[in-house]
Amino acid sequence: MSDVTPKRKKLYIETVGCQMNLLDSELVVGKLRNEGYELTDDIGKADTILYNTCSVRQHAEDKIYSALGRIKQLKQLKPELTIGVLGCMAQKDQKQILKRAPHVDIVVGPGQLARVPELLVLAKEEATPQMAVSLPRTAGSNLTVTASFAEYDPIREPAMRPTPFQAFVRIMMGCDKFCTYCIVPSVRGPEQSRPAAVIVDEARALADQGVKEITLLGQTVNSYRSVDASGRTFRLSDLLERLHEIEGLQRIKFITNFPNDMTDDLLQAVRDLPRVSRYLHVPAQSGCDEVLKRMKRTYSVALYDDMLDRIRETVPDAAVSSDFIVGFPGESEASFEKSMRLVERGRFKNSFIFKYSPRQGTKADTLFIDDIPEEVKKRRNNDLLVLQTAISQEDNRRLIGQSLEVLVEGPSKSSKGVAAGEIGQLSGRSSCDRIVVFEGHERLVGQFVPVSIEDASGVTLFGRVVTMDLVAPRA
Ligand code: 5AD
Ligand code: SF4
Repeated sequence: MSDVTPKRKKLYIETVGCQMNLLDSELVVGKLRNEGYELTDDIGKADTILYNTCSVRQHAEDKIYSALGRIKQLKQLKPELTIGVLGCMAQKDQKQILKRAPHVDIVVGPGQLARVPELLVLAKEEATPQMAVSLPRTAGSNLTVTASFAEYDPIREPAMRPTPFQAFVRIMMGCDKFCTYCIVPSVRGPEQSRPAAVIVDEARALADQGVKEITLLGQTVNSYRSVDASGRTFRLSDLLERLHEIEGLQRIKFITNFPNDMTDDLLQAVRDLPRVSRYLHVPAQSGCDEVLKRMKRTYSVALYDDMLDRIRETVPDAAVSSDFIVGFPGESEASFEKSMRLVERGRFKNSFIFKYSPRQGTKADTLFIDDIPEEVKKRRNNDLLVLQTAISQEDNRRLIGQSLEVLVEGPSKSSKGVAAGEIGQLSGRSSCDRIVVFEGHERLVGQFVPVSIEDASGVTLFGRVVTMDLVAPRA
């Protein structure tokens, strides 16, 4: 046996966008590590630089194009460097990426990620850029298009997870809702639910590796539906029941929900399964029926309100969060006011608020003019955020005096880190997804601890650990 180990190639990867992208990056890195790569944080030392990209708003794309511009010089100094653009922007812009950034070697859409290692080799061997993208939604039968968005959930890579005890699990791919503003159905392809048995096996393997919290991912996770070989249908509620039986998994979250599919069986599952997180992210997008109609969201404000009532009735301790788009074409002051009123009524834990960004290839971009000036979008964004923050703070303050079970994630953002064996400021999340900051011993990281809440801001709860003993997992 030779004692000369081959030099491992250094991989630098940057990920923007949603949790789906974080998971995709984990999987790509897992595969590349198996092929002899090792991760580096230092872009200057990398042999391969990958960007896993997002197309949901223009801003996310601009960020990547400027990053590509910045590394052009790096490539000139180091011609052997390989540069890759992966994910949604790769699928959307395809050859345009190579036109704008000819120093890019591979362009790989989210439905073709399994081919990344092979394409990295080919790009070098053939000294020409390689591209792998899925078919456009209109290119053929649904079956052919779906097949071009290949399932890709192979090797898990613990080093790429947010923490060793938390993991994402994809349960659905793609989206068929076609909201008029949204690029996701084009870049992530047709909606496909993964088989329940595959998901349960994956979750069990993660639990065996020490994962305590999983987050199930889907663009509309509560539309999940699969049928097994015996003909049994699994809805999200059925899947939660199965996952709840896995030993070691102590918290199960799922994001993101679509209002129409927030069915009673799902709410009852959240109520009855104690390890399912009391947190429901259900984007409303607007509080005005006319705007919802132009967005093709297929529900009315009344349906959304009714859904909120059902949530509050069935799972009173659940926190609900939402997304809003401000400045959608034709959004009048009166329409916007209706979004403000919905935020007031909804008492969301938080809302993610976005200024409308026209996306080429979407219905809204062809049908409507982006007629709301940027200053108006900015003002509406700010007004909604101020209102939401006041509500978040009011509701957070109601938790003062209560004790919440917190999964400790690590040192708090504002602390300078907590060294091994030391006490410092830690941060974690409650079952209702609230961020909780408290003083504690470093060994609490990765544990569930009861924290008594003493103070609250709009985004953070501050507390004290009820006992410094390591707390046993919840039964
Ligand atoms: N412009 C602004 N926001 C958008 N979102 C999706 N598409 C757009 C767009 N074109 C927002 C929606 C969605 C979130 C992930 O991003 O609120 O829920
Ligand atoms: Fe986009 Fe609508 Fe699908 Fe969400 S449900 S990913 S907003 S098309």
